[in-house]
Amino acid sequence: AQTVERAGGGAVAVGGLDVRALAEEFGTPAYVLDEADFRARCRAWRDAFGRDADVFYAGKAFLSRAVVRWLHEEGLNLDVCSGGELATALAAGMPPERIALHGNNKSTEEIARAVEAGVGRIVLDSFQEIARVAHVARGLGRRQPVQIRVTVGVEAHTHEFIATAHEDQKFGLALAGGQAAEAVRRVLGLESLELTGIHSHIGSQIFDMAGFEVSARRVVGLLTEVRDEHGVELPEIDLGGGLGIAYTPEDDPREPHEIAKALGDIVTRECEAAGLAVPRLSVEPGRAIVGPTAFTLYEVGTLKELEGLRTYVSVDGGMSDNIRTALYDAEYTVALVSRSSEAEPMLSRVVGKHCESGDIVVRDAFLPADLAPGDLLAVPATGAYCRSMASNYNHALRPPVVAVRDGQAREIVRRETEEDLLRLDVG
Ligand code: LLP
Repeated sequence: AQTVERAGGGAVAVGGLDVRALAEEFGTPAYVLDEADFRARCRAWRDAFGRDADVFYAGKAFLSRAVVRWLHEEGLNLDVCSGGELATALAAGMPPERIALHGNNKSTEEIARAVEAGVGRIVLDSFQEIARVAHVARGLGRRQPVQIRVTVGVEAHTHEFIATAHEDQKFGLALAGGQAAEAVRRVLGLESLELTGIHSHIGSQIFDMAGFEVSARRVVGLLTEVRDEHGVELPEIDLGGGLGIAYTPEDDPREPHEIAKALGDIVTRECEAAGLAVPRLSVEPGRAIVGPTAFTLYEVGTLKELEGLRTYVSVDGGMSDNIRTALYDAEYTVALVSRSSEAEPMLSRVVGKHCESGDIVVRDAFLPADLAPGDLLAVPATGAYCRSMASNYNHALRPPVVAVRDGQAREIVRRETEEDLLRLDVG
């Protein structure tokens, strides 16, 4: 997805920069993010959804001040799910009315900070939270716009969606059994809360639109019940994030315009059937925007060949910069990028430098048999949930995020140093 071409000696260039020069300047491992690609994806989502809908980028996928500025400039809104993400958004100048606060266990401090800042939306996740946000807003003399997060009875996973056992999870208020309807009743009875709509998020890395259709239908069903019971037509629906990206050539993601059309059509159809005015739609893509925009650049260290089995290729990072393979059995591809090679392909497993055997970055890959220490490897599609889920396991120093644009590269998140680690160690 990035503008990748071959530079001298068969090395790969990204955004006009040779990866060898990037490794030289910023070290490895490093996440290399293509700013133009990020902005283009923001625009594709905005254009696909148009003026009658809002796109909230899900900050949990990856957030930094530069990202917030890009979102702001490209006309996107931002979904945050913690005080830390909120602080980053505000520090980078995102207008508070374009921020939505999520979370199943927001602290009173987080709620107070959000209300005080004037965030445009707090997504209520539980009965306690309804009371908590109402109390905070009353105390601050505000009327806080809120949505209610409902669980619609669909749990979507890659290539499948399961229609049972989905209410058995920590998020949201169930439509089934009337929890969600009861939440609406309570919120409508509270002066300090302004109920603007219903929110549903069904999962992540989804390719099949069927789960979203069921979700949209059930959310509209609740809007109809609310109209019938309270005589109120709620003006907003948020259908969450979750659109999948291509990690491997077998993955076949939907484009933003296909998603916008599918969601728009179903919401319009259901609302017309129910005699409701079509509400303003919003979505919260995280991975689909930032995921494909970055790759991780690693340097090869030791190689261990197991005759007839595979070669273990150790790189200078691992589960501390990409936990997804260990955690979700996620699949990635990998390529030699510092030179070209005509050598035979060898079955390889790209592993990290951490002290456990589950520290795998790419489980199965073919890399050239002449691979040697010092070669550079790139693992694509690591823009989402890699830096944001990075850890200091084994006191690893978390890698920088290097943004490239028009032949220029700069760190937007710098590499951690041993001083950073020791600064927190105050004992
Ligand atoms: N909105 C809500 C309420 C969410 O909970 C999430 C993700 C999103 C939006 C964004 O979903 P996306 O478009 O990025 O799929 N760490 C996992 C993914 C966890 C996603 C949690 N919620 C991973 O690495 O695959």
